[in-house]
Amino acid sequence: MTEHGSRPAQRRIALLNQKGGVGKTTTTVNLAAAAAERGRSVLLVDLDPQAHATLHLGVDPDSTDQSIYDLILDPETDAASIVRPIKANLALIPSQTDLAAAEQELAAAPDRQHRLRRALDRAAAPYDIVMIDCPPSLGLLTVGALAAVHEVLIPMQAHFLALQGVGKLLETVRLMTVSVNPALRVAGVVLCMHDATTSLAQEVVADLDAYFEKARDQNVPWRDARVFRPAIRRNIKLAECPSFGQTIFDYAPAAAGAADYRALAGAIFGPAPAAAPPEVRVVAQAVATEPAR
Ligand SMILES: Nc1ncnc2c1ncn2[C@@H]1O[C@H](COP(=O)(O)OP(=O)(O)OP(=O)(O)O)[C@@H](O)[C@H]1O
Ligand SMILES: [Mg+2]
Repeated sequence: MTEHGSRPAQRRIALLNQKGGVGKTTTTVNLAAAAAERGRSVLLVDLDPQAHATLHLGVDPDSTDQSIYDLILDPETDAASIVRPIKANLALIPSQTDLAAAEQELAAAPDRQHRLRRALDRAAAPYDIVMIDCPPSLGLLTVGALAAVHEVLIPMQAHFLALQGVGKLLETVRLMTVSVNPALRVAGVVLCMHDATTSLAQEVVADLDAYFEKARDQNVPWRDARVFRPAIRRNIKLAECPSFGQTIFDYAPAAAGAADYRALAGAIFGPAPAAAPPEVRVVAQAVATEPAR
């Protein structure tokens, strides 16, 4: 068991950038679906009151009786009843749009930073990977996410001012490691809506690569971070699929966006399709070591 009470192998990742509209939700949904396609069991947590990831996966946020907020606010909530199966290996904890009261209640809770972590300890045990789609702010919900995960993945667009925003985000992560979650690490940056042909984009990527390289021997939570390749190209199919409530793999499996997110899943979750679950491996070993008849 880890300090988070989950299996050591479970990866918990917050997808975070306080800048709006950079590709967080698109990346959370399609990277989660790509990992699920590779045989990992994935729980996607929609932590954004905009409920875009919930909509993207075809769930109407107004029709959900219970959401991530019930799980955070009430430790008695039955976690299993909130998790929605979406497709093979992929499940969702939905968000809800009417949250003013819930957020106020959370703000008054003395242990508010730890509520999400405890909620995930109750709800997420069966999954290999937990991915949290964060709102575009560094507020209460985001701090809760940073207390609940091991890794931060930063979706961003390679615009010049984006680097400033990433600096602020890295500093927030560093402060979290000092105060609340010493194990927190920045896994890296995912380049979204990327146009590799512009010199500005090339310069921003070179600056980011150099920044992370320089941190290798420093005691900072981004010392192992990298700019993941491939970048996600701008692809209209990725912009279309949310309105159909589908991932790119259901909506346009041959599109560039599907190829990019598949390859990115390989870079982030490992090259080979996931091994069989332990119980299957044990059976396979037993069969393999049985004398031939
Ligand atoms: N690679 C891409 N190509 C084309 N359009 C994209 C791509 N990635 C994202 N988009 C579109 O850009 C818009 C913003 O993306 P997305 O909603 O993922 O950003 P976000 O960071 O989650 O936004 P918010 O901060 O509001 O949560 C959406 O309309 C989405 O469909
Ligand atoms: Mg979003």
